[in-house]
Amino acid sequence: MKNFTNYTVYDKKEKYHDETKVVRGALGHDPTTGAISFPIFQTSTYRHIGIKENTNFNYSRIINPTREELERTMAILDGGYSAFAVSSGMAAVSLVLTILKNKEHILISDDVYGGTVRACENTLKEMGVLYTQVDFTDIELVKKEIKANTRMMLIEVPTNPMMKVADIREVTNLAHQYGITVVVDNTFLTSYYQKPLMLGADIVIYSATKYIAGHNDVSAGIVVVKTEEQAEYLKNKIAILGAPLSPMDSWLTLRGLKTLAVRLDKHSLNAIKIADFLKVHPKVKHVYYIGFKDHPNYEVTKKQTKGFGGMISFELDSMKTVNKFLEKINLILFAESLGGVESLITHPASRTHTEISKENREKLGIKDTLLRLSVGIEDCSDLINDIKQALE
Ligand SMILES: Cc1ncc(COP(=O)(O)O)c(C=O)c1O
Repeated sequence: MKNFTNYTVYDKKEKYHDETKVVRGALGHDPTTGAISFPIFQTSTYRHIGIKENTNFNYSRIINPTREELERTMAILDGGYSAFAVSSGMAAVSLVLTILKNKEHILISDDVYGGTVRACENTLKEMGVLYTQVDFTDIELVKKEIKANTRMMLIEVPTNPMMKVADIREVTNLAHQYGITVVVDNTFLTSYYQKPLMLGADIVIYSATKYIAGHNDVSAGIVVVKTEEQAEYLKNKIAILGAPLSPMDSWLTLRGLKTLAVRLDKHSLNAIKIADFLKVHPKVKHVYYIGFKDHPNYEVTKKQTKGFGGMISFELDSMKTVNKFLEKINLILFAESLGGVESLITHPASRTHTEISKENREKLGIKDTLLRLSVGIEDCSDLINDIKQALE
């Protein structure tokens, strides 16, 4: 029987489709007992065999079989060298930012998740690293913002909440001419729909709290890297920072991951119908949805993604309508976060993007009348009826 010291991922993994890979994982089951549900190795430490003999496992902050199964599965899905599971999406963001050194510079998407801006504004500035926000859908603008000390670009594709879609290959081609590392936050589409490493990016990060785990019941983050050198660097950093994902949360994330493909396809189906409904509603001024043929980056989206996902932002006609809508919406829950089976709606200006000044928010289109909807997998007509009554 195989054991954890000599196991390999299932045979010829490349021949399988993503729908199989998410269900079957790396090992897919416990090699020591045959248990089909991968066990939760709820231990902080491991018994040594002898002074120079070990089981490859020494201490759970460094290595844990449940976490390792999740990490290997994510590396397989993204086509990376290896992956790291950490305690939240922000831990994943912070971890990659440790690559930057004093006096270096980073470019980030202009309407990136507010927490990422906060990390740049607080921790990075204190470390002597400056940042610039730029619209990555305009490559000429990006070119202008590159400085001699720019070391990293961190982009969200699509962005949050304005749904702008940068051309990942174009951005990485430009960045690599200057030796700049490209990190893609792939939280919204996941590797089931979009594979940034295959498009040239160097590192992919996830708030696995969202679609990867998918049930609004766990906080988790993933970093997937392309090279052994990056892997060694991050492995040491995680051990020092002490932010790996716990065994229980690794298991919850693995369990959620098994249904990623069916969930995301259903999120997408529902979102298309809801976006179409919102587009023609008289109280809706604008709908931002990457699946629309008239979305400014539709051609890029078609080129690099397999599906459109479940995220929609939309602008209502007045604050009065917004307030009434959020009071009346019932089945769809007014809550932060996204990517779970339950539909959630949030108000970016007062919730997720507060660190951006009102003036800058307005410039980016994050108006006070903008709402961001994470479409769940409930019956679509129930969701549309809920929106309809809340807009009456
Ligand atoms: C795109 C994106 N990246 C990162 C994060 C941070 O993730 P977490 O909340 O799991 O720390 C979020 C959270 O909303 C997000 O939307």
